[in-house]
Amino acid sequence: MADASVLAASGQSLEDDFFNPLSPEMIADPYPAYRRLREHAPVYWHQQLGAWLLTRFTDCQAVLRDSERFAADFRRVGIPTPETLLSLQTLDPPTHTPLRHLGLGALRSLDIDALTAELLARAETDLSALAGGGEFDFVRDFADSFTLTAMTSLLGVPGPAEDDTFHRLNADLDRSMDSGFDPDAEAAGIRARERFNALVESWLAHPPKQGVIAHLVEHEAEGGVSRDVLVNSVRAFFHAGFEVPSRFLSNAVAALLDHPDAFAALREGAPMGPAIEELIRFSGPVQALSRACTEDTSIGGKTVRRGEIVVALIGAANRDPGQFPDPDAIRVDRDPNPHLGFGRGSHSCLGSVIGRAEASAVMTAVVRHLPSLRRSGPAVPRPNATLRGLRSLPVAVN
Ligand code: HEM
Repeated sequence: MADASVLAASGQSLEDDFFNPLSPEMIADPYPAYRRLREHAPVYWHQQLGAWLLTRFTDCQAVLRDSERFAADFRRVGIPTPETLLSLQTLDPPTHTPLRHLGLGALRSLDIDALTAELLARAETDLSALAGGGEFDFVRDFADSFTLTAMTSLLGVPGPAEDDTFHRLNADLDRSMDSGFDPDAEAAGIRARERFNALVESWLAHPPKQGVIAHLVEHEAEGGVSRDVLVNSVRAFFHAGFEVPSRFLSNAVAALLDHPDAFAALREGAPMGPAIEELIRFSGPVQALSRACTEDTSIGGKTVRRGEIVVALIGAANRDPGQFPDPDAIRVDRDPNPHLGFGRGSHSCLGSVIGRAEASAVMTAVVRHLPSLRRSGPAVPRPNATLRGLRSLPVAVN
């Protein structure tokens, strides 16, 4: 996703008492601060960040839909972008279009029903085995490896060694998404991306016979996509494809454990599809999407100038009472539910069908096999604001 890293353009160290997403309070629970902002300053110029923060649903949706006036490619307003960041996520139409088609074609070549059945079988086996031990960590023992395996099998490649280096590179990359608030994080994020690119290059050099990589290599010449941008885009796809769903699964299970009525409704047979959408609205992992304004425009009565950065706080938009009645409640049958958890417009989530399939498989397995699931210790949040999730979620079954 076009992350907040590019917000480091201001180059300042940032402290804003009114809104500091890296403060321990906001890392633990950003929603009260989002509410304050939406109620008092829904289009807020964050002085130290040098960017506009949007918290209303309608403003966030309008910005994400308008790639003419709100660019994911910051070079359109003269902000330089390191080569390694140029990917599907940071290019705009028309350059973005062939890449998007290539990615969509690769996903359409997969048998999603078979994939969904496989995911469910694996979630059931893994979670039943963990439940046999009584206590486990939902993130460390399950979600992280479940989503990484799902992603590598989708790509058709062997899983990378899940060693300390791999975990550190992921942590560096995640942290760099907040570098607007933590400028020191940017350089390590670039280095991590370069290391992941080496892995992607090895996959493309020796493509498997099946899966997403096989499709991409077979069709890459068709849209005139350059190899460098393809490598960056596969890296972005790979990273988004396992980190984001793992964050989502941890947030969703924690939310269900804190809302026993919602968990009970699922155990009693409430349909899983709308429940997944509601959990993405309620505690989606992606909190912020950044765009650069390409021409002077007005948002909520404020003039936003060409070259200024606008941050759509989709985590806040998804709790906007103007759009979602009773926004701080989980209604597993909420309908309509036009949440922005998968984004909107030309950059909306390419892998949403996979994210939904993974979530549905895991939640179904939880409801079927772990009906007595409860917390067994304090959860530990990841220290990230843009990509929100848990590092540890200790749970137990009776
Ligand atoms: C619950 C799971 C997921 C959530 C909540 C999620 C959320 C998002 C969001 C909000 C965006 C928009 C970024 C922007 O506008 O700048 C996005 C883009 C993207 N997502 Fe996901 N995602 C999920 C799962 C996945 C999976 C499983 C994959 C890959 C299989 C994936 C691949 C991508 C890619 C490649 C983009 C960039 C699309 C583009 O810029 O054209 N995501 N995602």
